[in-house]
Amino acid sequence: MVVVPPSAHHHDTPGSPTLEIRNITKTYPGGTQALRGVTLSLRPGVVHGLVGANGAGKSTLIKIIAGAERPTTGELRWLGTSTDWRRPADAQSAGVAVVHQQSPVVPALSVLENVYLGNEATGLWRPQDRIAEFAALCARVAFVIDPHTIVAELSVGDRQMVSILRALAQNPALILLDEPTASISPAERAGVLGAARSLAASGVAVVFVSHFLNEIMQICDEVSVLRDGQLVDEFDAAGMSVERMVSGIVGNRLHAVEAFKPAHAIGEVVLDVRGLRSTSMGSVVDLEVRRGEIVGIAGLLGSGRTSLLKAIFGADRRVSGEVIVNGESISASPERAVAGGVAFVPEDRLSQGLIADWEIWRNTALADSRELSRRFGLIDIAKERALATRAQNDLGIVAPSIDAAVKDLSGGNAQKVVFAKWIYKTHHVLLLDEPTAGVDVAGKADLIKLIRDLAARGIGVLVVLSEFEELLSLVDRVVVLRHGAIEAEFRADDVSVAELTASVGGLA
Ligand SMILES: Nc1ncnc2c1ncn2[C@@H]1O[C@H](COP(=O)(O)OP(=O)(O)OP(=O)(O)O)[C@@H](O)[C@H]1O
Ligand SMILES: [Mg+2]
Repeated sequence: MVVVPPSAHHHDTPGSPTLEIRNITKTYPGGTQALRGVTLSLRPGVVHGLVGANGAGKSTLIKIIAGAERPTTGELRWLGTSTDWRRPADAQSAGVAVVHQQSPVVPALSVLENVYLGNEATGLWRPQDRIAEFAALCARVAFVIDPHTIVAELSVGDRQMVSILRALAQNPALILLDEPTASISPAERAGVLGAARSLAASGVAVVFVSHFLNEIMQICDEVSVLRDGQLVDEFDAAGMSVERMVSGIVGNRLHAVEAFKPAHAIGEVVLDVRGLRSTSMGSVVDLEVRRGEIVGIAGLLGSGRTSLLKAIFGADRRVSGEVIVNGESISASPERAVAGGVAFVPEDRLSQGLIADWEIWRNTALADSRELSRRFGLIDIAKERALATRAQNDLGIVAPSIDAAVKDLSGGNAQKVVFAKWIYKTHHVLLLDEPTAGVDVAGKADLIKLIRDLAARGIGVLVVLSEFEELLSLVDRVVVLRHGAIEAEFRADDVSVAELTASVGGLA
């Protein structure tokens, strides 16, 4: 779909603010100062971008506006009047709708039920009463979907659109979108970005949080940059540039990814996939990864990238073929794969067994699944704590200590914990699905360095990454997947982003 560009006109006639945020601070119990005196205004028809590193305070600000957290000091003024929202329902009835970073759609229910459940103040409703209303909501954001589809069957991108529809069903004056595009493919992002623009065009005030600065450039009328809980820069469309955002976000933190790839030795074949097909794959795949090699999988949404990783890991039932790791055939079960030295960091990381109330170190210790720790007896606490400390350094996990509970971490930092669970326990093969989703610009550089270090230690890496520029900066070789089959293969040094884009689309 076409993304409507920011309008140049509303700055001439700025409406009076929908919400004024005045000198807000937030100190969490435990002492973390997440916000330190933030002041900004949100106006009708304006898309306000909010950027900042993992842990900068973006979600905290969103939660305060949504009534889910209360500010420690400061004032919120809604349509000119001071307010004190004590719970989400207060903000909601005033006209604030939010799509949270970890958006809870209910997979077992239909699209229609997800959109209207919980928006129902009282009584029963019959789905058929809402069909016309639902169609009107969809039209507002140019989204097409059968309302009776079960959400479990939808792609992550469509689920995100369902969350947006649900927020929209409240007919809000202000809508808060906290990283709505973090884990969806570039192709699906256009729908979400277009939705944000059309909401603003209909007079809603929009807050848009993203680590993808090109998206901010594309749809925001103005931007606020948060660093360590402080507003360090603000500008409108005219003053906006990626460079300015990056320097505001990272401050004096180092962030450059080394442009050159350190030379590393590539050894014997460590992962040999022969004639593999699984229940969710359309074709048979043959693929080899060598020790020290980083191989990328490029493909469009639905090309079978995730299915291929799952089939290798044994998470999907195999129809045919064989997976040989370090010379040994691994039968199709995740436990066997783990025991054979394979690790898989899935795309949908936040649902992958983080225990929110547990400390960071206990979560990273849990990697080999309960099944394995039961088999091998008690865990070695000192060793596990040392590993968590190492992960905190390697990945730049922002937290007071490894004893912090995962529920108190920012979204991006919680993702890094899931990552840490797996990567240190792999001996032979590392499978990664969208490893940089939700991670800020500086964190991406840390992550890429870490993946390279693991490869340099002789691990074979197979990685799915939708951002082709990032993919090519990481991998040695890239295979192109179309309809579940490998259709092309390039050395990373021999292919451009444009050529790869053409190839995944079947144009080259
Ligand atoms: N419930 C909580 N209890 C204690 N500390 C918290 C809590 N929620 C967040 N924090 C801390 O507050 C700070 C800001 O977190 P916040 O979630 O607002 O960051 P963010 O900018 O949204 O980051 P990300 O890009 O990773 O989502 C972090 O240091 C985080 O660990
Ligand atoms: Mg966040």
